[in-house]
Amino acid sequence: MWCSLQALLPLAGILSITGAIDLDITSKDSVKSATSSIAYDMMTYYSGNQTGQVPGILPGPCSSAECYYWWEAGAMWGALINYWQYTGDESYQPSVIEALKFQIGPEKNYNPPNQSKNMGIDDQDFWGFAAMEAAEAGIPDVQEDDFPSWLALAQAVWNFQVQYWEPASCGGGFRWQIYPVNAGYNLKNTVSNGGFFQLSVRLARYTGNQTYADWAGKVYNWMENTLLFQMQDGHLYIWDNTDADGNCTQVEHYVWTYNYGINLMGCAMMYNFTNGDQVWKTRIDNILDGAALLFFPSDYGNNIMTEMLCESQGNCNNDQSSFKAYLSRWMAVTSLLAPYTHDLIMPKLQASAQAAAKQCVGGSNGRQCGRQWYSTTWDGSKGVGQQMSALAVIGATQITQDMVPLSAKTGGNSTSNPNAGNDAPHNPEEEFEKDPITTADKAGAAILTLIVIGTITGLSIWIIL
Ligand SMILES: *[C@@H]1O[C@H](CO)[C@@H](O)[C@H](O)[C@H]1NC(C)=O
Ligand SMILES: *[C@@H]1O[C@H](CO)[C@@H](O)[C@H](O)[C@H]1NC(C)=O
Ligand SMILES: *[C@@H]1O[C@H](CO)[C@@H](O)[C@H](O)[C@H]1NC(C)=O
Ligand SMILES: *[C@@H]1O[C@H](CO)[C@@H](O)[C@H](O)[C@H]1NC(C)=O
Ligand SMILES: *[C@@H]1O[C@H](CO)[C@@H](O)[C@H](O)[C@H]1NC(C)=O
Ligand SMILES: *[C@@H]1O[C@H](CO)[C@@H](O)[C@H](O)[C@H]1NC(C)=O
Repeated sequence: MWCSLQALLPLAGILSITGAIDLDITSKDSVKSATSSIAYDMMTYYSGNQTGQVPGILPGPCSSAECYYWWEAGAMWGALINYWQYTGDESYQPSVIEALKFQIGPEKNYNPPNQSKNMGIDDQDFWGFAAMEAAEAGIPDVQEDDFPSWLALAQAVWNFQVQYWEPASCGGGFRWQIYPVNAGYNLKNTVSNGGFFQLSVRLARYTGNQTYADWAGKVYNWMENTLLFQMQDGHLYIWDNTDADGNCTQVEHYVWTYNYGINLMGCAMMYNFTNGDQVWKTRIDNILDGAALLFFPSDYGNNIMTEMLCESQGNCNNDQSSFKAYLSRWMAVTSLLAPYTHDLIMPKLQASAQAAAKQCVGGSNGRQCGRQWYSTTWDGSKGVGQQMSALAVIGATQITQDMVPLSAKTGGNSTSNPNAGNDAPHNPEEEFEKDPITTADKAGAAILTLIVIGTITGLSIWIIL
């Protein structure tokens, strides 16, 4: 059948025009061609490099239906750096660099005024990660007067965030939101704490500065001692958020791939940084086990990743539709930094990659990616997150030792500035007096996540258990 189809040249022509992503992960050329199409389709959502448009951001504002919050654009630039590493395709590097330059803001710490009033810790982290990604991938620092190095940008994000550590409730932790007026300020959530944790680890490893490592340990210990992290029947559940108004005695029972991923890679990097500390190994093992149980269900052969809380119901929002991209990337990096996990992780990424390609059969060009990788019928959804997730998981199958994130010890040459951002101290009150917050601003960046899960799915993991 396969042979005779190939022989039908006209039909083959039609097949390639009408899309579908052919993928053989054992062939570098096949992976290159598949990811090139997927990245191209992802970038059709981006118009920031056109005249009169704002570099770095995706369509918004989020009062309209088809919109992407600022954080997701930051995540996308990071994913495109990885795409370049996996394939060598430099097509998007100019857009990536322009975006990462344009959004730094006057304090040079990815807190630009257009975003700062509703910026959560997690939102800023994804831009900090992209800058870190650039440093770890060996992209040369921008050589312009007064323009910070990639590393200094990540350090400036860290210096900004560290001031918001809050021991007054819950014994510590970061609140999701910076400003009390924003919805979600009462929550201490996993992605914000895991985000600061991961950034700390990456800075510790890149610079060798123990202060960052100490903070990483402190934040992780805090998370582990709250209800956010719970062992049940020998498995680790990492829940989404806990309410500081009640001193974190209640927890929301939602599980998301990126909350596992963000902590997994941080632990893997700490394991590596500490030369194999068993405490970090146990943490890696618990997260991997929990992620395998929840997001690689036996229904789909134990190896195909799914965003279980929203995917089968078809109601993931634009934020959630991108989460699998991060778990994919961070599992791949984990397989390098904790090599003993390689044989456990790679079959999951490989099977998920093959499956993701088979879900990229939708839309008018016949190759838009949906979310349900476990199905070969297009689920009818498309968007930046769907493209990014497929791109990330297919690219991740190509990760090799030469992509181990660089550090200053292994040839990384991005310039360190531990005081980055500190000369422009941040004063929220002043900012609000200058420019009072409007009702429209109040929807915090990832707030949609909360509203949607709160009102639509009503589905908590404990029901499933
Ligand atoms: C914008 O970027 C896309 C690729 O993402 C590219 O095809 C296009 O030519 C760029 N446009 C400009 C004006 O640079
Ligand atoms: C902020 O928004 C204004 C108005 O849309 C735009 O001109 C400017 O380029 C934006 N700045 C950033 C850093 O996004
Ligand atoms: C830093 O490293 C990158 C990648 O290896 C290289 O292209 C660049 O020239 C180096 N920069 C300096 C200042 O050495
Ligand atoms: C709040 O929780 C922290 C950490 O669990 C605890 O140390 C503290 O005593 C609690 N405070 C109150 C007022 O219950
Ligand atoms: C740390 O990562 C490097 C690069 O993959 C690897 O060679 C080394 O074995 C790792 N260290 C440990 C303790 O696993
Ligand atoms: C290490 O990082 C801390 C926190 O930013 C900073 O205060 C300290 O100066 C740094 N130390 C060195 C040697 O760079």
